Amino acid sequence: NRISLIGAPVDSGQRRRGCLMGPIAYRVAGIERELAELGHEVTDLGDVAPGELPQAECPNPAVDQLPETLGWTRALRARVADALDGGTMPVVMGGDHSLALGSVAGAAQHAAQAGRPLFLLWLDAHSDYHTPLTTVSGNLHGTPVAYIAGREGFDAFPAFPAPIPAENICMFGIRSVDAAEHAALRETKITVNDMRVLDERGIVAPLREFLDRVRAANGMLHVSLDVDFLDPSIAPAVGTTVPGGATFREAHLVCELLHESGLMTSLDLVELNPFMDERGRTARLMVDLAGSLFGKKVFDLPTRSFL
Ligand code: ARG
Ligand code: MN
Ligand code: MN
Ligand code: MN
Repeated sequence: NRISLIGAPVDSGQRRRGCLMGPIAYRVAGIERELAELGHEVTDLGDVAPGELPQAECPNPAVDQLPETLGWTRALRARVADALDGGTMPVVMGGDHSLALGSVAGAAQHAAQAGRPLFLLWLDAHSDYHTPLTTVSGNLHGTPVAYIAGREGFDAFPAFPAPIPAENICMFGIRSVDAAEHAALRETKITVNDMRVLDERGIVAPLREFLDRVRAANGMLHVSLDVDFLDPSIAPAVGTTVPGGATFREAHLVCELLHESGLMTSLDLVELNPFMDERGRTARLMVDLAGSLFGKKVFDLPTRSFL
């Protein structure tokens, strides 16, 4: 595989500063070497910049840093689309989750041109299904899935290229959903695998169901991994911790199954706030998980593949 590492020091999607240090932390934690040692051809494209900020207003006065987020959305969409057009797999090193407004738009633009359906796997404690009109916090990192699904309320943003149908969107790890998001999600066919589902069924069966659908449709698959998908006890470096997250073992298993499926075509690593980390442990864990996503395993015996 050819991998393009894309630094996205985005900090405009929320108000607790620090995510802008994420790309550097991934580099210090050795992400390039981790992936290269697995046999991939890795190119670090450096950091994206938001460019000149557009004028923008939103009828909801709570919305914070809209022009900054619009700048990042435009720049990241172009960079991710270019990486895919060039036959590489973009790995976007965030940056807060608002970067997915751009990264998934870039993937969608590419998929539409390639004539393939795009699927989205959202690994997160949160559903991020607010629109700029429904958000209470005003933090735009809580909105990307609504944009990607083509919800209304994003007038200030460029139209999302080929919105992803709800049936192609699957969330895992969900355990914090605001009232407006809940009401809207109930009206859709988005698969919400909240912690209740994972406790009862485990993570393997629901993940396989989704991956089978991606494979059957010859789809492309964007994976967006929010640090707060993980339990705060193993991943403290995030602004929005929620107890009861995925364990170390569940998270690695998800990543290994994703690798074995061969279906992932683009990836975000988001919400790492190195300022809140403990001796780099969260950055290191995220790099470890990236390793599992790209083929790292302890044993490589044929009997190990159950997919
Ligand atoms: N739903 C909350 C909000 O809108 C939290 C969003 C958290 N999102 C995230 N990407 N960490 O403020
Ligand atoms: Mn901020
Ligand atoms: Mn998120
Ligand atoms: Mn989250």
